[in-house]
Amino acid sequence: MSSNNFELKNPESGLTTSLPVRSGTIGPAVLDISNLNRDHGVFSYDPAFAVTASCDSKITYIDGDAGVLLYRGYPVEQLAEKSSFMEVAYLLMYGDLPDATQLQEFSGSIGRHTMINESLLRFFNGFHHDAHPMAMVSAVVASMSAFYHDSTDIHNPRHREIFSHRIVAKLPTIAAAAHKHSLGQPFIYPRNDLDYCSNMLSMFFAVPCESYTVDPIAAKALDLLFILHADHEQNASTSTVRLAGSTGANPYAAISSGVAALWGPAHGGANEAVLAMLEQIGRVENIPKYLGMVKDKSSHFRLMGFGHRIYKNFDPRAKIIRDMCHQVLAKLGRNDNPLFELALKLEDIALKDEYFVSRKLYPNVDFYSGIIYSALGIPRSMYTVMFAIARTVGWVAHWLEMISDPNMRISRPRQLYTGPVRRDYVPAAQRKTLQEA
Ligand code: SDX
Repeated sequence: MSSNNFELKNPESGLTTSLPVRSGTIGPAVLDISNLNRDHGVFSYDPAFAVTASCDSKITYIDGDAGVLLYRGYPVEQLAEKSSFMEVAYLLMYGDLPDATQLQEFSGSIGRHTMINESLLRFFNGFHHDAHPMAMVSAVVASMSAFYHDSTDIHNPRHREIFSHRIVAKLPTIAAAAHKHSLGQPFIYPRNDLDYCSNMLSMFFAVPCESYTVDPIAAKALDLLFILHADHEQNASTSTVRLAGSTGANPYAAISSGVAALWGPAHGGANEAVLAMLEQIGRVENIPKYLGMVKDKSSHFRLMGFGHRIYKNFDPRAKIIRDMCHQVLAKLGRNDNPLFELALKLEDIALKDEYFVSRKLYPNVDFYSGIIYSALGIPRSMYTVMFAIARTVGWVAHWLEMISDPNMRISRPRQLYTGPVRRDYVPAAQRKTLQEA
């Protein structure tokens, strides 16, 4: 990693100082400000971490202006076309594409860890039937920290690997259990004769009273969506997992913090919000009215599935999913999908509208994904759970990268304090009420 210095001049004192500049393998260089307070008595200020690199990482690279997404250097477009979710999971977690034996062993290990402890299953009975699946999933994932004491020594590489396989394997089972609980249907156990995505569809849609055959088109579509959602460098939920993990917390608890962060509509919760928005817009004729609401800040209406902190060009994942919609809907015989037609028209109109063009707002990964989940028969409340299943691979990859770094320290941001200056305690009898003051 090359480095040189960046000269800074203090306008008041006229003093200049130099800050080390560090460059990665690709992408923008960074100013190393880690000694800023020690050497200059000041902190940096970047409330939403919009321009702050929180770590080094070798996992995923994004070029937001060019619309580029690389997993361990491989373009996501190539992985989407040629790879599988299990192979991509191995790539993100271990750093390289597996050979045939490695992939078989990895997929086999994941397949053998899909069952969850029967006690965990009983937790679902504590939820009301209309509990949001993300509430159930985040709670049950956190509860996994009360089990599996044989693999939570985070300083033991074998324990870390067992944890990583267990959590990736069990998320679909937990998700399916949440879905079945919402329906009041019996839980369907995982099957070791099915691949990861087929197993998930079986646990979602099979019922004990009849045999169930997984539609290979649906399994392939799910596999592709999981590849596209697997990782995205230091997004909010991944940063949450890294921060929670940096305290040495139980790894299952750290992953549950990522599930919680992903749920927000500004993040992974957007895929569910997009479908609600499309239904609210209803018809193409209503699009101008809603775009008017977007421009009227007092409406607080946002075009869900549009915009991104990093992509100021097309989110490459959105393009792939949009093309996938055409294929999957046609293959499933659902190409008369009015919401998909509305989404396409909305994208077309928005991308010609100055408000969106000037702010470089493009469709993101969440804009079309719900159309496919809907075509697969997955209920809307489960869309963000699907995102969480895929992103568990990214969360685990980043947790493994951080925990195995000998220089890892607890993450602890600072602040700009704007509260009251020091003042002494006042006995209640002497406190002025607002009216007296
Ligand atoms: C994901 O970080 C990741 O990598 C996330 C993710 C991943 O894989 O992990 O890619 C997954 O979370 C995708 C994003 C899903 N969220 C949404 O689709 C929700 C709708 N989008 C936004 O709320 C917003 O675009 C964000 C949250 C995605 C990004 O917010 P930023 O970077 O803080 O941008 P901003 O809010 O500062 O917006 C800049 C301007 C503002 O207008 P002005 O104040 O300049 O007038 O753009 C406007 C915003 O009002 N704007 C939008 C908009 N998004 C931004 N206006 C209308 N509709 C929108 N969707």
